[in-house]
Amino acid sequence: MNRFLIAALILGASAGVSNAQQKLNYKPKTDLVKLIDKNLKDAAAQYKVLMKNVPADSLPETFQHNKPKSTTPKNWVSGFYPGTLFYLYEGTNDKTLYEAGLAKLPIMEPIKTIDSHDIGFMMYCSFGNANNIKPSAAYKDILLTSAQSLCKRFNPIVGCTMSWSSKPGEFRVIIDNMMNLELLMWATKVSGDSSYAKIALQHANTTMKNHFRPDYSSYHLVNYNPATGGINKKQTVQGYADDSAWARGQGWGLYGYTMMYRETKDPRYLDQARHIAEFILNNPNLPKDKVPYWDFSAPDIPTAYRDASAGAIYASALIELAGYVDAASAKIYLDVAETIIRTLSSDRFKAAYGENGGFILKHSVGHLPKGAMIDVPLTYADYYFVEAMLRYKNLGKK
Ligand code: GLY
Repeated sequence: MNRFLIAALILGASAGVSNAQQKLNYKPKTDLVKLIDKNLKDAAAQYKVLMKNVPADSLPETFQHNKPKSTTPKNWVSGFYPGTLFYLYEGTNDKTLYEAGLAKLPIMEPIKTIDSHDIGFMMYCSFGNANNIKPSAAYKDILLTSAQSLCKRFNPIVGCTMSWSSKPGEFRVIIDNMMNLELLMWATKVSGDSSYAKIALQHANTTMKNHFRPDYSSYHLVNYNPATGGINKKQTVQGYADDSAWARGQGWGLYGYTMMYRETKDPRYLDQARHIAEFILNNPNLPKDKVPYWDFSAPDIPTAYRDASAGAIYASALIELAGYVDAASAKIYLDVAETIIRTLSSDRFKAAYGENGGFILKHSVGHLPKGAMIDVPLTYADYYFVEAMLRYKNLGKK
C-alpha cells in the first residue's frame, strides 16, 4: 500500500465534512466573522422560504424564469440541499433546518445503489454531513454501500472511475470526478478496507497525469480507450472550448487535490493543489473581486457571466489549503477566500430575503454550452458558500 495512504489510515479519525484539518494558527477577521454570522442567519431565514417551494419527493436545483425548479434524487445535485441545511444547522443551531435536512434523507437513501459517477456528491454531501452531526450505523451502512457503487465504475486499465456512460471504445472521465473520491477515502477509514482508497489514489494519480496542461489548468474531459488506457481525446463539455479552463472545473480540481492531501498527506497532491491555485489566482481574467467568469477563456470577458458556484468552491478549498502551507502562502489563499466571501455577501450576489426563489446566491452558470441554467441560483453554489463560511469561522480552532 502507498506509504501516504498508510499514514492517512493511521491518522484515522474522520476530518469531518465541514471542519477540514487546520494546522493554521490564524485568527479569522472579526468583521468578516460578523458578516458571516449575519449571512448564516439570513440564509437560515431564506432557506425557510426555499423549503416552501420544494415538493416532498424532490430537491431544489435552481430558480429560473421566476419559477422554482426541483429535481429528483437521481440528479447529481440532489445531496446539496440537505447538506446545506445541515451546514446551516451547524452554523445557527436552528433545529428546523436540521429536521428539514433529515426529512429529505429517506428519498435519498435508494441512491446508494445508483450507477453514477456523481454518487459522492449526492450521498456524501447529504448522509456524510448527517453522519458528521450525529453518527449512526445506518448512515455508515448507506455510505459504504454508496462507495461500493462508485467502485463498480472503476476500470483498472484506465485507472479511473467512469463519468456518465460511454460508447464502445470510449471511457469518459471529467475533472468533477475528483470530488467523489472523498467518499472512497472515508469508506476506507471507517471500514479498514483499503480497496476504496486504492481506487481513489489511482483515480487521483491518473487524473493528475492526464487532465492537466503545463500551466496546471485542466481539461474538462479526458476520453480514454478502456481496453488500453490510452487517450482518445481531451475536450470540454461544459466549458467554452476544449482548450479553455472552465471555471468550475478548476474548482473541482483545486478542492479535490486539497482534499486528497488531507486524506493521504502525499505531498504530490499538495503540490498539485498549489499549482492549480496558482493558475487561478494569477490568471489575468480573474476579476478583482475574485468571483470568476464562467470560463477563464470566455470570449466576452469582461461582460461574460460570472459563476458564483465556482467562486464558492474556490473559497472553501483555499481556506482548507491555507492550513497545509507556509504562512506567506496561507495569507495569499486566505486573502482571496476572504475577498470571495465578501463579494458573495454583497447585494450583487446575495439575494434579498424572499427573492431568488429562496436560494442564497444569485449568478451561477450550470451548463452554458447547452443553454441550461445560465446566470441563475444553483443549489451547489449555496452549499459551498455556506461550507466556506463555516470553514472560515473555524480557522484556528482544533
Ligand atoms: N457536472 C457537474 C458540474 O456542473 O459542475
